[in-house]
Amino acid sequence: MDIFVDEKRKLFHLTNGKVSYIFHVLKNGSLGQLYFGKAIHHREDFSHFQTNNIPTPASCHYYQDDPAFSLETTRQEYPVYGKGDFRDAAIELKSLEGDIGNQFRFQGYEISKGKPKLAELPATYASENEATTITIKLIDETIGVVLFLTYTIFHCYPVITRSARIKNNNSDILFVKKLMSASIDLPDDKYKMIQLSGTWSRERHIKERDLVQGIHTVSSIRGASSHHHNPFLALKRKKTTEHANDVYGFNFVYSGNFLAQTEVDHYHVTRVMMGIHPHQFKWKLKKGQSFQSPEAVLVYSDEGINGMSQAFHDLYRNHLIRDTWKTKERPILINNWEATYFEFNEEKLIGIAKSAKELGMELFVLDDGWFGKRDDDTASLGDWFANERKLPNGLTILAQKVNGLGLQFGLWFEPEMVSPDSQLYKRHPEWIVGKQDRYLTFGRNQLVLDFSMDEVVQYMYQKMSAIIQDTKLSYIKWDMNRNITDAYSQALPFDRQGEFFHRYILGVYHLYEKLISKFPGVLFESCAGGGGRFDPGMLYYAPQAWTSDNTDAIERLKIQYGTSLVYPIYSMGSHVSVTPNHQTRRNTSMETRANTAYFGTFGYELNPLELSSSEKAEVKEQIQFYKNHRNLIRDGDFYRLKNPFEGNETAWMIVSKDKREAVVGWYKALATPNPEKQQVLLLKGLNEDGLYRCDAQGKTYYGDELMYRGLNLPIEYNGANADQAERSGDFQSAVFHLKLE
Ligand code: GLA
Repeated sequence: MDIFVDEKRKLFHLTNGKVSYIFHVLKNGSLGQLYFGKAIHHREDFSHFQTNNIPTPASCHYYQDDPAFSLETTRQEYPVYGKGDFRDAAIELKSLEGDIGNQFRFQGYEISKGKPKLAELPATYASENEATTITIKLIDETIGVVLFLTYTIFHCYPVITRSARIKNNNSDILFVKKLMSASIDLPDDKYKMIQLSGTWSRERHIKERDLVQGIHTVSSIRGASSHHHNPFLALKRKKTTEHANDVYGFNFVYSGNFLAQTEVDHYHVTRVMMGIHPHQFKWKLKKGQSFQSPEAVLVYSDEGINGMSQAFHDLYRNHLIRDTWKTKERPILINNWEATYFEFNEEKLIGIAKSAKELGMELFVLDDGWFGKRDDDTASLGDWFANERKLPNGLTILAQKVNGLGLQFGLWFEPEMVSPDSQLYKRHPEWIVGKQDRYLTFGRNQLVLDFSMDEVVQYMYQKMSAIIQDTKLSYIKWDMNRNITDAYSQALPFDRQGEFFHRYILGVYHLYEKLISKFPGVLFESCAGGGGRFDPGMLYYAPQAWTSDNTDAIERLKIQYGTSLVYPIYSMGSHVSVTPNHQTRRNTSMETRANTAYFGTFGYELNPLELSSSEKAEVKEQIQFYKNHRNLIRDGDFYRLKNPFEGNETAWMIVSKDKREAVVGWYKALATPNPEKQQVLLLKGLNEDGLYRCDAQGKTYYGDELMYRGLNLPIEYNGANADQAERSGDFQSAVFHLKLE
């Protein structure tokens, strides 16, 4: 049993032995939150979990004639404004006359096995044996509106997913101004809030803040989930560590404008909310029409932040990423971007591909610059046909030649964009986002195509399908290099302009859906100027994402470490590039660059023809290493061991589910003078009794020894031990493979 229902008390307990999520129907017919956290025994009554303080006279807003019942002092599941609760509400509706207050009352519920699909939206999925779903129906009779709140509990994970749908049964038009996917009131505020924030080239850095009375948000109104804030927040206790104690994680399965928010009230209750950002949002509903919110994923862990991450990783690997790519090996790729930028021709590309093949790579990706007359970033987006000057024989011949070398062929696209200097723009100026009679804001010299228009989506589908078919394409890097300004659709009437942002991202999802349905074998890698759209919405369609344009091995430690809080290791595109690095001008060894890049989907972004013969030999070994261990990297449990945001060292490891094998990465940014004698690294997740062979050291160790005493790190140069030293200088690293004897 995973959903207990007490019909008499109208109480619902979702539990799976890992988590419990309990709510009930309140006196006014709305839903009250009782508990979310570690699984607890089911019992007949939980209503004592709702401790109502009688409101003080100064805030004396109570329900009808009962001074003991006030929404201000009641923990709720989906709060409304205007009924005595002055905190932020989860829903806001407008009629043609103006604001309408709401009073939703419980009407009934429905339980189903598995998890229904969300119309037009990406979402986690589950079969009938993997999850159970309950939908609560609430009605506001005076305005004729029905609200459906859907909760799914996954049987094997400490996870609840939530979404909301609103239906207009009124004959009058209704506007939805705000419809959060989830809202929950936690009983106290003794938390630190964790967020993943940054900007281009330093995405998803971990930031923390204490909660105090007031509102704390992370959000995006850029038309993409953004480099700046990931649609994620977590709450941890002050005593919570990486591996112990309570954490709540919230993640939004959406790639557009979002709001993730905590609000601490005057009684120290913490309200967490997540949903589409209400900024400029206004969705018109005629009689009988519905609006479905995207999904929020709620994770609880009592095994620290790492426990939260493992729950997200397992959920997304098994219930978000498409079936085709769950167990398939991802090809080791060579991408020509940093090798050539816009300067290439067929001969140069074939040279790179040939050399890459000799080194063991499996997929050749031709990045930006292959189309129209694109020689720099000022032209031709939208003109998706071969650049005749660079590729006079055309794309199909190039693809055949690449395939002939024994490599798969992949292409870069930026389907959502158009250059003013393009044939497409000249033909269809009405397809751009923004009012044409206005001064428009440019980003990277380009304008945004209006993906809220089905005509545009269909056009791109035709263009991309033809190229996929002609070139027998194996892979697409789908980029999005600017955010949306001048948000206005030339195709929408004035009273539907508030729908633009959401309709835009639905258009993006629609194109993805059409392409993956027709070409299930094509691997998509999402990208938005690096990691500007690294979110679960994208992962549903594209099982890997370009993590950041920053390929510097040391900078990548922070980016990959932060990203790993939520997203599976195998979803992070990570490449070895040249030194000095193009984003930082830092020099690091080829070894360190690969040691960082192994913890992701591995590839190279350099010109292999320019490598020395010793570097080529090293690359061959690296490729072999990754081929040997990529299944472990895809399927294993990830443990963060040392935090780059807290010190000079970073370490992490992946342990196979059966604990027979592990791969460990250790990195030290700056050398330390005269370091302590023996540096060790404490490992995690191993079988205590197992005897593991460490390939790199040619020695065996017991699991308990490795976890409680630690693995000896290579000896560092201390100014006097030149004969002994195994490492020295800045940007050191080591990777160890451990296997049960
Ligand atoms: C973006 C991507 C890069 C590269 C360029 C090409 O910045 O993140 O990897 O594809 O576009 O213009």
